[in-house]
Amino acid sequence: MLGFRHYSNTPVLFLPMQIVEQIVEMHDWSEAERRQSRRIALIPTMGFLHEGHLCLVRDGKARCDRVVVSIFVNPRQFGPKEDFTTYPRDLARDVRLLEKEGVDILFHPSVEAIYPARAQTHIEVENLSLPLCGAARPGHFRGVATVVAKLFNIVRPHMAVFGEKDYQQLQVIRRMVRDLNMEVEIAGHPIVREADGLALSSRNAYLTPQERGAAVCLSRSLCKADRWFRRGETSGRALLCLVRSELEKEPLAKIEYVKLCHVETLEDIEKVDDAALLALAVQFSKARLIDNRVLRR
Ligand code: PAF
Repeated sequence: MLGFRHYSNTPVLFLPMQIVEQIVEMHDWSEAERRQSRRIALIPTMGFLHEGHLCLVRDGKARCDRVVVSIFVNPRQFGPKEDFTTYPRDLARDVRLLEKEGVDILFHPSVEAIYPARAQTHIEVENLSLPLCGAARPGHFRGVATVVAKLFNIVRPHMAVFGEKDYQQLQVIRRMVRDLNMEVEIAGHPIVREADGLALSSRNAYLTPQERGAAVCLSRSLCKADRWFRRGETSGRALLCLVRSELEKEPLAKIEYVKLCHVETLEDIEKVDDAALLALAVQFSKARLIDNRVLRR
C-alpha cells in the first residue's frame, strides 16, 4: 500500500516498511536498489529500540536514499553467563517506531538463518578486542565482528551507522572494514543521553528506580574529569582517581573498569597529549552499563 508522509508542506510518496526475514530476499532487494544507483544505509541493532537508535536511523536517512535497520539479538556476542535469553525484546513496538521514522526495510533474520549448523568461520580483530569490555567479555567482539561482517555481506550497504557509546565496538568495526577491504563507509554517531546525562541503552531497562537515580554517576564522573582536563590536568593517574572516587560515592555501583586509553589503538596511556578516551564499565545488580568521553584539546 502506498501512502504519503508530510515533510514541511510537501507531501512525499512513501512505501510502507517491509519486514524481511529471508537472507535471499534481503540480498535481492539491495541488489535491485544498487542497480538503480540508490545509496543504502544500514543501522545494525539488537532491537528494544530507544531514541539513541532512532538518531542513528535519522543519520542514515540524511546520508542515503534507503535505510535498512536490522534487529538480531546475536547469541555469539553473549558469554555463557550473560543475558542472551533475558535481553529485552519488543518487536511490535520496534516496528511501530521504525515505521514512524520512514525506514524502508526491517531485516529480522532467525538465528538459524544467520548461523547455519555447519558454519565455522569467525572474524577476530585481534588487539582491539582485548582491553576494556573485551577483558571481561572474552569472545564478545569476535561475535560482534562476525555478525556485522555477515550483515554487510547480506544487506550490501554503502554505509553503516554505529553509536559512539559502544566506542570499542566502533573501533573494532572500523579496523575490520579497513583490514578486509570492505566497501562500507562507517559513521559514528555521538552518544545520546537522558536529560540528567545517563547514556541511552537498552540495558537501562534492567535498572531499578533506585539504581536509575544512581546510574547518573557514570556521566557525572566523566564530565568532572573533562572539566579537570580542560583546566589543565593531563595525568592519567589523577583523572582515573577522580573518576573512581566519583563512582565509589554510589554504593549501588560496582566498578568493572575505568581506563584512559589511546583513541585508536585503545592501549592504556599515562598522560593525555592531544586526545584520549576515558572509558568505564559499571555493574548494577542486573545492568552492566558502559560510558565514555573523548578528552580532546
Ligand atoms: O551494538 C549492537 O547493538 C550490537 O553489538 C550490533 C552492532 C547490532 C551487533 O550485534
